[in-house]
Amino acid sequence: MPSVEGVGARRAALQMLDAVLRRGQTLDAAGGAVRNLSPQDHGLAVAIAGEALRRLPDLDALIDSATRQRLPDDSKARMVLRLALAQKIGLGTPDHALVATALPLVDGGPRRLVHGVLGTLLRKGIEPIGAPRLPPEVAERWAGVWGDEVVQAARRQIATRPALDLTFADDLETQAYAGQHGGASLAPAHVRLQSSSVADLPGYGEGRWWVQDLAASLPARLIPADAAGVLDLCAAPGGKTMQLAAAGHRVVAVDASANRLVRLRENLQRTHLEAELVEADALTWQPDRAFDAILLDAPCSATGTFRRHPEVLYRARPRTIAEGAELQGKLLDRAAQWLRPGGSLVYSVCSLEPEEGEEVIRDFLASHPGFTTDAPRPGELPDFASISPEGWVRILPGLLEAEGGLDGFFMTRLVRAG
Ligand SMILES: C[S@@+](CC[C@H](N)C(=O)[O-])C[C@H]1O[C@@H](n2cnc3c(N)ncnc32)[C@H](O)[C@@H]1O
Repeated sequence: MPSVEGVGARRAALQMLDAVLRRGQTLDAAGGAVRNLSPQDHGLAVAIAGEALRRLPDLDALIDSATRQRLPDDSKARMVLRLALAQKIGLGTPDHALVATALPLVDGGPRRLVHGVLGTLLRKGIEPIGAPRLPPEVAERWAGVWGDEVVQAARRQIATRPALDLTFADDLETQAYAGQHGGASLAPAHVRLQSSSVADLPGYGEGRWWVQDLAASLPARLIPADAAGVLDLCAAPGGKTMQLAAAGHRVVAVDASANRLVRLRENLQRTHLEAELVEADALTWQPDRAFDAILLDAPCSATGTFRRHPEVLYRARPRTIAEGAELQGKLLDRAAQWLRPGGSLVYSVCSLEPEEGEEVIRDFLASHPGFTTDAPRPGELPDFASISPEGWVRILPGLLEAEGGLDGFFMTRLVRAG
């Protein structure tokens, strides 16, 4: 049988969706494992799998409405149907193309079933899904801790691709750049653009800016300007390292991942910024000096990045969140030992789970009486960053929604008694 055009990209999307949902991989890693595709087909495959992950509960409800058979969650039939419907809803693929590229994926298998379900749904007509449902366990968890309004905001935000945020090495450039490119500057050194093609934007090659969600740029702003030696712990790929180096700090950047450090090195080269790089596991590494300030941007469930990485909602389970919290507590313990008296320790996570944010800090403060919270002072962070009664910063879905929203984050600055 002659191969149908576009099936290769769909087959790759199927492989990616399967790797994410059944094997718990990130979409980036799953995409990286797929070879022998043109860059265009690879991009299409990632887009299709991503669109399916943004709307999975709604796609499943549609599928279930069109068949009496209960298709197991990880069955090939359900996976192929999810991908076909995601193309219809998220990418506007014509009906004939999505059917023609779906059926070869189930040849020798449930072809009739898939054809039947798709035919039924397409004949009936499929409504757009404005605010996709979150996975029920995530909706329940977030409604419990943050309230229903935050869940509704997250639902609206997961449907759309976020804008492109740039951080500039030189704050003086931002207003003019925003004006020239139809963007907006929502904080010092920040520009938000609607365009998404990074390499075509002026200034990339010269390293005048790097891509960094506005929320992710906030923790480094809490490092005191007069801190000379700064340890950037868990630093790669280096968004915060570049901010610290651009602000004039002498930075030691530590990360356990050799691959991610390669990206950090490339980022520094492109932006002409300097930092001392160390490949080490922070749980065993010992620095030969104490630091004036430390930024610990800890590994976490990353559920705050669900707009760009919708798969985080499926990867973060209570057990992985608890494991994350344990690691974060250990990393904080280590970092605390390397801070000079009077120094500042900034802790941040791109997580919407209080177990990885507020609770880690509560536990840390209870067991480290020499540390106290040092709340951000006026002007240190943009006004939209609300500060809790404890002096911590929590960024939730819904914040700056009219301007395009932010990744979810938690951050706080602690100070060691002098
Ligand atoms: C949230 S990411 C850091 C992002 C980075 N700060 C930035 O702004 O680009 C967490 C990093 O922690 C690193 N990591 C995880 N466990 C580590 C450990 N035990 N020691 C050092 N680095 C670790 C990971 O390799 C990863 O690069």
